[in-house]
Amino acid sequence: MKKVLALYYSQTGQLERIMRSTMSPFLGRDDIEVHFQEMRPVKPYPFPWPVIRFFDQFPECVTLDPPEIELPGFDASLKYDLVMFGYQTWYLSPSLPATGFLKSRYASVLRDTPVVTVIGCRNMWFKGQEAVRKLITAAGGRFAGNIVREDQGSRAETFITVTVWLLTGRRETWKGVLSPAGVSEADIAGASRFGRQVMDGLLDGRLARGDAVLNGHESAFVLQKYILVEEVATRGFRLGAWLVRLAGKQGAPLRVPLLGLFALLLGIGICTVIPITLLVLLVVSRSAGYKRWMQQQTLYLEGA
Ligand SMILES: Cc1cc2nc3c(=O)[nH]c(=O)nc-3n(C[C@H](O)[C@H](O)[C@H](O)COP(=O)(O)O)c2cc1C
Repeated sequence: MKKVLALYYSQTGQLERIMRSTMSPFLGRDDIEVHFQEMRPVKPYPFPWPVIRFFDQFPECVTLDPPEIELPGFDASLKYDLVMFGYQTWYLSPSLPATGFLKSRYASVLRDTPVVTVIGCRNMWFKGQEAVRKLITAAGGRFAGNIVREDQGSRAETFITVTVWLLTGRRETWKGVLSPAGVSEADIAGASRFGRQVMDGLLDGRLARGDAVLNGHESAFVLQKYILVEEVATRGFRLGAWLVRLAGKQGAPLRVPLLGLFALLLGIGICTVIPITLLVLLVVSRSAGYKRWMQQQTLYLEGA
């Protein structure tokens, strides 16, 4: 009997649905036992988000400052054959509940175990995944593959739709003009294909041997030009996070004007940094060094 742990956190239920679809091939079998576990923070996060609280999460997300996680009844000393780690990105970083779990005493459940990450987010997950892989390794886990489901619609579209969704709870903005916010139903259902591939690798021993079980180019497609955009943006985010934290802890009134400034700069940054970085890319992308770096980054993000 193989034992599998499926960890997740979800505000709207989207990531939970992606996880359940991914895990569907594992269910109802005599040879596999699956335990679903929500990574519950002691202080729940609101949904929809009040604007100030939404921006107030940014410094802690970026600096990987973990919230307290409490999982009554969860036994981290149990040994699993596979852990599926479901999370979403917040501010180009792992969501706070995901960081909270990976930095908590419960992370010992990952020790000496293959861990496959399952991401459901708008579309900017590269730096968050880098952080999660490091935290999995720090906890003694063995990263074994990546499955990503991104929001439907263009990048410009999703910037509007996800913001409206998170701040109002409405999935539809300008119905008929913009796609609904979030991952499409087809992509949620399609996650089961990758779940099956992971399950096959679990049953035939490839996972245990450390062999690849997923084709990362399919399960975690990387739009290469955004690798540099995230690299540039996270540097700005780190500086901003450090500045806001000087004004106090989450909820401190002094943080509000700095967060307002951050929100303004974020808006300006999106309209300027992204096009400028993409222009710079046109020039540097011809160099052999850049091509090598890009190839390494792509393979890493796809799960190699
Ligand atoms: C505070 C916050 C920040 C977010 N930042 C990002 C981000 O940087 N990149 C991204 O692709 N999605 C981002 N999202 C969207 C989430 O990754 C996710 O798609 C959405 O919150 C729905 O997830 P759920 O399963 O928790 O409902 C953010 C969401 C929140 C709440």
